[in-house]
Amino acid sequence: MKIQAIRGVKDILPDEIEKWQWVESKAHTVFARYGFKEIRPPIFEKTNLFSRGIGETTDIVEKEMYTFDDRSGEKVTLRPEGTASVVRAFIEHKMYAAQIVQKLYYLGPMFRYERPQAGRFRQFYQIGVEAMGSHHPDVDAEVMIMLMDFFKSLGLTGLKLQLNSLGCSKCRPAYRETLKDAIREHLSDLCDNCNQRYERNPLRVLDCKVPRDKEIAAELPKTADHLCDECNDHFQGVRLLLDSTNTPYDLDHLLVRGLDYYTHTTFEVSSSDLGAQNAICGGGRYNMLVEEFDGPPTPCFGFALGLERLISVVPFDQAGDFEKHPDVFIVCLGEEAQKLSFTLTHQLRSEGLSVERDYDGGSMKRQMKKANKSASRFALILGEDEINSGKYQLKNMSNSEQLEISADSCAEEIKKQL
Ligand code: HAM
Repeated sequence: MKIQAIRGVKDILPDEIEKWQWVESKAHTVFARYGFKEIRPPIFEKTNLFSRGIGETTDIVEKEMYTFDDRSGEKVTLRPEGTASVVRAFIEHKMYAAQIVQKLYYLGPMFRYERPQAGRFRQFYQIGVEAMGSHHPDVDAEVMIMLMDFFKSLGLTGLKLQLNSLGCSKCRPAYRETLKDAIREHLSDLCDNCNQRYERNPLRVLDCKVPRDKEIAAELPKTADHLCDECNDHFQGVRLLLDSTNTPYDLDHLLVRGLDYYTHTTFEVSSSDLGAQNAICGGGRYNMLVEEFDGPPTPCFGFALGLERLISVVPFDQAGDFEKHPDVFIVCLGEEAQKLSFTLTHQLRSEGLSVERDYDGGSMKRQMKKANKSASRFALILGEDEINSGKYQLKNMSNSEQLEISADSCAEEIKKQL
């Protein structure tokens, strides 16, 4: 019986994994420089954490969650995103008690039952960042600058940072009504989806992807023109800070995001090298979510980026040699050498060298071919003569130079050559 992977999920094969590990290691390095620490929440949670956190009327909650009853009849959901889990952990472990801005990041798979297409999967990986405990515009700007710094460390250029502000619980209700009034006269021209959104979540009409709706949305009242003084000051503050560090951005009045927890700043980063699914990263401020889950008032700012999309645009050819290759490939000729190579491999590895060999032996030509394929730095050749004399041949695979080394100090001599 042939069983294939589920539609919309993919294997990350050994050929690609070094790219993933390299990108992930850059994230660990850059984020640590800004004082962020990793958190690893579970990949499934009680369903109502997501339905309440993300918003009952969002596409994610209405149509995309992998929800099931576990064996005790509890409703659980494979996480469609990480923010709600981090908020839950923040409250559960009283991380607020430290009275510092908690700067957290996470990395791992998310699950959404979306229609699979290029750049859109049902299991995909995110790197997410959450800065929890300050409403200061410095936090918004610093986190976006860190993100752009991370992209720069990967050699990425040509990315677009789009910025908007969605206001707060004080100014948004009035804006919502103004927006509904303006949408009302266009209802017959808008798609069915927008007609439904009009009542329940009218802001989402602004980011409809249907071409005719986009034209209408462009003329609708803009959030940024209906901000209260506090939101306006915050937004101008963030913009000034981005300007002061020469971080380019565009204002995008239609950027409302697909999750309901946002207040104030929202942003997305997109790449022109991607097709329809061109958003690499999205995020913003969410000042009310911790309180909504009965935690203390905790203004937060964060983002998440899609690793599949990111990795597909990283210029790996300019990244230098980040792939991992063995230091030594042991080529052994004859039965004695074959036997010895097992313990020698063990010995060299315990001395810290990375070692490969051909378990099945065979001709010198065949084994040298495999050494070449493994891209090892050196081949260590041992046959009967070498074993008898206690001197092994060490061949440099890049220039074919050969050196005789003593069996007794084999590991040190190889290390000297690396
Ligand atoms: P999001 O915009 O839903 O935000 O997702 C962030 C990123 O995840 C997207 O920009 C995209 O690159 C990637 N992504 C989303 N869905 C898929 C998919 N089906 N296949 C491949 N990649 C996908 C959030 O998840 C928020 N939690 C971000 C956040 C953190 N806001 C504040 N803190």
